[in-house]
This record gives sequence, C-alpha cells and structure tokens, in this order.
Amino acid sequence: MAKITYDGIEIEVPDGTTIMNAARQLDGKLAPPAMCYYTPLKGSGGKCRACLVRVAAGSAKDPRPMPKLVASCITPVQDGMVVENNSSPQVLEVRKGIVEMLLINHPLDCPVCDQAGECSLQDFAFEHGLSTTRYEEERRTFDKVDIGPLIQLHMTRCILCYRCVYTADQLTDGRVHGVLGRGDASEIGTYIENIIDNDFSGNVIDVCPVGALTDKTWRFKQRVWFTKPVNAHRDCETDQCAGRVTLWYKGPEVLRVTGRKDENGEVKEWICNTCRFDKKETTDWTIEGPAPVDRSSVVSANHYELPVLNQQVIADMPASTVRELAQNPPLKLGGLNG
Ligand code: SF4
Ligand code: FES
Repeated sequence: MAKITYDGIEIEVPDGTTIMNAARQLDGKLAPPAMCYYTPLKGSGGKCRACLVRVAAGSAKDPRPMPKLVASCITPVQDGMVVENNSSPQVLEVRKGIVEMLLINHPLDCPVCDQAGECSLQDFAFEHGLSTTRYEEERRTFDKVDIGPLIQLHMTRCILCYRCVYTADQLTDGRVHGVLGRGDASEIGTYIENIIDNDFSGNVIDVCPVGALTDKTWRFKQRVWFTKPVNAHRDCETDQCAGRVTLWYKGPEVLRVTGRKDENGEVKEWICNTCRFDKKETTDWTIEGPAPVDRSSVVSANHYELPVLNQQVIADMPASTVRELAQNPPLKLGGLNG
C-alpha cells in the first residue's frame, strides 16, 4: 500500500494505483478532469493533458518535487507522495491553457451540437477555461462523414483523445478506423473508405467526450436536458452485450439508447448495436427506474415522469424505491398500466 497526500487529504491506496484513480477513490468531484483517460480502455490516457497535477514531493524516499506537472491519469503513486490539484495555483493556471489549446480547432457550435449538455469539453471549458480567446488563425474544418451506417463523424469537433480508436481495437475484431496523418494534419478516418459496422461499433459514440461521433438515429431529435433517462434491461442474445442500458425518453417515445455510465461518466458495460439502434420501444425493455443523474448536470434540471410501468416491475422494485418515487415530487409514477 502507498500513503499519499492529495490536496492536503491523506489516503492509502494499493501500489500501482494512478494519482487519478487515487483521487477518484477519495471523491470523484475532487479528482482532476479527464478528457482522454477512460478506465475500461486499456492504454487510454496521456493524450489531452487535462489532468495535469503538481507533485510537490515524489516519495518518502525522495521527497524532491517533480520538475514539471505530470499527467495524473498515467502516473502511479509512490509512498509519501504529495500531490496538488486544485490547491496549486500553477495547475489551475496551466489548465486554462489546456482548455485554450483544446479549443483551438473546436468550433463554438454547442447551440446545434447533439453533445451539448453532456459534453466533457463544455464542462471542462466552463469549469477551468477563460471566457475569451486569443486565437485569430483559421480553424481546421472538415465535412461531416458517415463513418458507419448509423454513426456520423464531425471531425471538426474531435480532440484526438483516441478513446474511439481504443474502443474499436478492444471491442471489435478488425478495427477499420484510426488516427490518420501526423501533427496538425492528424484526423480520425477509415482506411480506405471503409465503414464501421461491427456489432459493438456504437460504443464509440458513448466514449467520445465531445460531439465528434454522433448517433444518427438521435441527431437533432432533442436537447438532452429535455429528455428523461431511465434505466432498463433486456435479455440480449448478442454475446458479450450486457443488455443493461439507459433509455432517453421524451414523453412516451424512446429517442435514444446508450450504455449506462458511472459516477466518473464512464460506460459501465458495453452494449451491442441491436440494443442501441433497433430497440426503441418501451415494450422491448424491462424498466428499472430513473437513471441517477449528477446534481450538477443540466439533465437533472429536468423532471422525471416515469413512462409506462407494469405492476410486475413495481412489485420487483425495493419498497424504498417505490416509496421514494411516490414521495419525491419530481418523480411521478405516471401511466401505470396492468
Ligand atoms: S472522435 Fe471522439 S473519441 Fe474519437 S478521437 Fe475524436 S474526440 Fe476522441
Ligand atoms: S486525462 Fe490524463 S492526459 Fe488526458
């Protein structure tokens, strides 16, 4: 075990834990922001620099500070390490620069972007960025591309985090897309004119931190804060598909289906394209109840109204959940049938 001090708080974690994961064990809200690291994806992290922290003491054996800020998502802790995140003015200052850099080529199209309201870059810029830009040069622009039958790529918005590449590598047999070109000519693309159509390819949409990869069955249907996320499951026959999802309702209509995310905004279990794109009827699913939404999310500003629930689903719910649904004014047991 290694004992570290993180922003003045002591925590003990197993050897080999990264600074990011140690901070998340302490409290996800105190952890550094992450734009490229994604726990379920091996090899992710180290690309975006959003998570830089200051190591004020390297270890008990060698308490010298590290000379430069380090990426917390790929730096393992050492016993006696002292880490500064929000307590370091240098980190906060550098983070402003990272936001500025990530926004160099990113368009300001949040008002028309499907990711708005659940975009990691939007949150990152809001929490750590400046309200002005010094950038005067021309931005890179790209045409939208249908990178798969149901997935559209807006390369203009991509921050080259590599998450979609690792997802395709680790979930599908035979990745057909990747980062082509080098330096400022790098871009996500398929080689050559291939399309992404593997059974699990839809997961690239869930891992994309920005609106670069979008679900064509959901595009422009609704702003996410007008929808109501509800957890549901089905007995999916596709091997390795969890069948446990979040349904995003507008009224009685399921507008999209996504994988469920944890408190760090990472997908808990991968789902197949059939569950994601083809099962858009409430009758396809067993409804479990409202999906937990972070209080700070714009989605939580909305009110829940449960869609049709049959008596069996209610009978299977813990009594405390039923009580809460009945008592909590925003949660209504609406549209009961059967
Ligand atoms: S398309 Fe999205 S997930 Fe893929 S590299 Fe770009 S920002 Fe990351
Ligand atoms: S989250 Fe650590 S470098 Fe991107």
